[in-house]
This record gives sequence, structure tokens and C-alpha cells, in this order.
Amino acid sequence: MQFDIFTLFPEVFPAYLDASILHRAQEMGHLQVDIHNIRTWATDKHQVTDEPPYGGGGGMVMKPEPIFAAVEGVLGQPPACPVLLMTPQGKLLDQKRAQKLASFERLAIIAGHYEGIDERVREHLVTDEISIGDYVLTGGELPALILIDVLTRLIPGVLGDPRAAENDSHASGLLEYPHYTRPEEFRGWNVPEILRSGHHARIDRWRRNQSLKRTQERRPDLLERFDLTDEDREFLDQLENGEE
Ligand code: ADE
Repeated sequence: MQFDIFTLFPEVFPAYLDASILHRAQEMGHLQVDIHNIRTWATDKHQVTDEPPYGGGGGMVMKPEPIFAAVEGVLGQPPACPVLLMTPQGKLLDQKRAQKLASFERLAIIAGHYEGIDERVREHLVTDEISIGDYVLTGGELPALILIDVLTRLIPGVLGDPRAAENDSHASGLLEYPHYTRPEEFRGWNVPEILRSGHHARIDRWRRNQSLKRTQERRPDLLERFDLTDEDREFLDQLENGEE
């Protein structure tokens, strides 16, 4: 999968992209990220990329010309792939939206800054606006990295265990079950007996029940949308009756 990032702060990206799984994904050829500095497409002497808003008010607004020039200069006119704008006004990023976006081979991402971005960029260049949550950051750079991270995990071959992404919290619609590793006992706290039993079917059921329990306790809204099996229902009934 290929990403083209358009930003005024290219220096913030390498530290994250050059570590851990994203780094390995690039080494293995699963992921390519090209960072483009919007400022280099500003043609005036001072390479201005923002101006005060028409109509007054505080803050600065990112100008349309350097953004159009950058995106069309790299991706053609019209751009060869979807052009996403990271903004708190966008559609909320969740695992389902991530799965849809992961089907594209190439995505362009504009990281907005300052008070906002000239509306003509949204109307005539951007194909989708994405928010990572109902809060406001100082810019779209972290949201762009988060989107890249989320999508990269979904590229086949990126995670060592091909089932890892399927088992993630949210991938199935449930939160993840608890994980344990060595030592078996730590400060008197023991690993649940069942996980050491070697009974794979029982372990699977225990994990499923733990996921259901956790989701019920922490995110009951997710459970409302989830397709429960008869066994799931039985477990949740027992839970409600205090039998679990
Ligand atoms: N830019 C600033 N805040 C943002 C958010 N919550 N999501 C995406 N981009 C943003």
C-alpha cells in the first residue's frame, strides 16, 4: 500500500515510520510512504502557505494554491487515488472504515493545520474527510500517522501472525480477551488455570467469554450491534445473574 502525505511539517513523520512494524513493512515492500512538503509548492518569494480568513476572525487559514499544486503535482489532475483530509470534522475512523480504506492500493492524505483549510480544497480536491476522534489536535500529522498505522496492520503479510489483525479489539466487533505470558506466577498473581490446560476448545470458549464480558462492562454499545450466538447469549445471561 502506498501513501502520499501532504504536510507543512514533514519532519514529524520519520521517527514513527522508521520504527517497529511500520519500518519492517516498508523494508518488506508492503508499505511505501512519501512525505511531501506543501511549502515547496508555494510559488511566492516567502513561500506563504496560510493567510488570515476572509470575513475576519482569529487564526490563519491554509491557502488553496500550494495544496492543489502539491497534490496534483504528485498525483496528476485529477488525482490518481482518493485524497483524504484529516480533520475533526471528518467521518470517524473506526475499524470498519479502516477495513474499507485498506482496500485501496494508494491513498493521499492532507494533514491540515492552523485554524483550518480553504473550503475549496475540501470541495474540489478532497474525496473524504477523516477524524480520529471527537477532540481537536493542533494538526493532522498525528492523525495521518494513526491512519497509516491502522491500515498497515491490515495489509496481508505485515503482522507475523496472519490471524493477529482478526483477533484485535474491534476487528470482530468485541474487545479483546486478556493475554498472559511467562512467568506463571508473578507477585502471587497467577495465570488463569485454563490457559495452561492445553484444552484448545475450552481455551477458545474462555477467551470468547472474556471478550464478551469485557465488551459488556466497557463498551455495551458495541454489544448491541454484535451478532451473538446461542452460547454467547447463555454466557451473558449467566453473567447478568451473577453466575460467572
Ligand atoms: N486534526 C485535528 N484534530 C483532528 C482529529 N480529531 N482528527 C483528524 N484530524 C485532526
